[in-house]
Amino acid sequence: MTIPKFKKTILDWYKDNKRNLPWRNTKNPYRIMVSEIMLQQTQVSRVLPKYKDFLKAFPDIKTLAACKDSDLLAIWSGLGYWRRARFLKEACKEIAKKHNGKFPKDIKTLLTLPGIGPYTAGAISCFAFGNTEPFIDTNIRRVYLHFFFKGKTDVHDAEILKIAKKAIPKEDARNWNWALFDYGALALKDKKINKKSRHYAKQSKFIGSFRQYRAKLMRFMLSQPKHDMPKTAALDFLEEILRKEEQDYSAGEILESLIQDKLVKQNNTRIFL
Ligand code: ADE
Repeated sequence: MTIPKFKKTILDWYKDNKRNLPWRNTKNPYRIMVSEIMLQQTQVSRVLPKYKDFLKAFPDIKTLAACKDSDLLAIWSGLGYWRRARFLKEACKEIAKKHNGKFPKDIKTLLTLPGIGPYTAGAISCFAFGNTEPFIDTNIRRVYLHFFFKGKTDVHDAEILKIAKKAIPKEDARNWNWALFDYGALALKDKKINKKSRHYAKQSKFIGSFRQYRAKLMRFMLSQPKHDMPKTAALDFLEEILRKEEQDYSAGEILESLIQDKLVKQNNTRIFL
């Protein structure tokens, strides 16, 4: 497949299949960062209502930087991977303090922000600031594997990036990257394609996972008045479900991992958000 033919295939398809998503109607870097972090491990359909609620509660960097952790976690509830919420707040605190509230524009500085890796930095730089650097996420990777690596296995992202650099248009890279997302997500639903990538990480099943019990405890804490309770109450709660569901995880280990991730705080006998 030649690059011009590839581009024509993608863009012709996109004309009739474009998704109108709210984060595509803004160039506000804060809003774009929120959407990209939410979209990292969560499907578009689940992100849509949360994105709206989140921006209503925390409309800008300043509000998020100064918010109460428990308010943040309450809004995040349902999205999972709670650490992303903490990183978002930390990133906003850093922008507020180190960068005088001005969102950094260059990739190098974006990469210094908590929770921002090459993909998110590239996406913010493209969608908010109109940069033409290519980036790879799971849907975009699927598109390149399909068109350029048929029959190959163990494909390295560096090989994909070489082609992506040739393909990216100088004008309107936003539209091009949206087209790639949509082609990967909608036209190539066949998930097996990504197994050809060296970077493919199969999502572990959530049900019965360590992560699920962390989430259960987080939700339990959010349901408590003031999001505060004795440590023993949390451990009793967890032990009870672990026993019922015949799981071998230890309640102490689950609570400890949330404390390690700074999602839950503790003093002598109590834990709180
Ligand atoms: N539009 C902008 N960023 C996106 C993403 N990460 N996934 C799907 N659509 C998007």
